[in-house]
Amino acid sequence: MSRQLIAGNWKMNGLLGPGSVLAGELAARASAGTPPGVELLVCPPTPLLYPLAVILKDSGIALGGQDCHAADGGAHTGDVSAAMLADAGCTYAIVGHSERRADHGDSDAEVKAKAEAALGAGLTPIVCVGETGEQRRAGETLSVIEAQVRGSVPDDIGAGGLVVAYEPVWAIGSGLTAKSSDVQEVHGHIRGLLKALFGPESGAAIRILYGGSVKPANAAELLAVPDVDGALVGGASLSAEDFWAIAAT
Ligand code: PGA
Repeated sequence: MSRQLIAGNWKMNGLLGPGSVLAGELAARASAGTPPGVELLVCPPTPLLYPLAVILKDSGIALGGQDCHAADGGAHTGDVSAAMLADAGCTYAIVGHSERRADHGDSDAEVKAKAEAALGAGLTPIVCVGETGEQRRAGETLSVIEAQVRGSVPDDIGAGGLVVAYEPVWAIGSGLTAKSSDVQEVHGHIRGLLKALFGPESGAAIRILYGGSVKPANAAELLAVPDVDGALVGGASLSAEDFWAIAAT
C-alpha cells in the first residue's frame, strides 16, 4: 500500500521571506524524521517554487505547482507550463482546484488536458473534484463527482502516477468538514470509477485525498476513513506546527 500523501496547498499566500521560513521549519522537522507511512508535499505560489526547491532539497518533502497550462509553451501570458514546474523542482501539479474552476472557468476538458500535460512533463497530477453546497443539498453529489472524474482524469496515466483529491466546495476554507460517512461514500464511489477506468489493481493504487478544512483536530477521523489516502490541506498548511500535526496523525 502506498504511503499517505499529506499535501499543503498554500494558495495565493506566502512571500519569499515568510515562505522560506515556513519551508525551512518543515525541512528541519523532516530532517529529524518524517512521520512513518507519510509522504509530504508543499505547493506554494509559483514565484516561490524555485527558492523552496533549494530549501527543501534533500528534505524528502516534495514540491508541487498549484496549476499548469495544457500547452508546452507559447503565447499564454501569465501561465506556467508543466515543464516549467518540473524545471523548478516540482514532482506534482494540482489541477482543477475548485478555485481555478470558479475563478478561471477551468472546464473538465481543460483540467484533463492540464493533467495530461503534467504527466507528459513527468509530474504527478492531483486532479481535484468536489460538489457545491447546493449540489449536495439537491442530492447530486455522486453524479457531479462522477462527471468530474470521468471528464477530468486522463484516459491513459501510463506509468506516471495520478492522485485524485475530493474537496467539497462548501468545506473549503469554511471550517465545515464532511461527515466521515459522507467522505467514504464519495471516496468509495471514486475508487469504483478509478478501478473501472484503469483496472482493479491500478485503480486501487491511485491515492484519493480528502480536502476541505482539514486541521489537527479533525485529521485523525478523516484520515482513518478507509478510502482516504491522504489530505489536501489549505489554511492549516500555512502553519508548520499544524501541518506537521496533521501529518503525524
Ligand atoms: P482549506 O483548503 O484546508 O483551507 O479548506 C483546502 C483546499 O482548498 O485545498
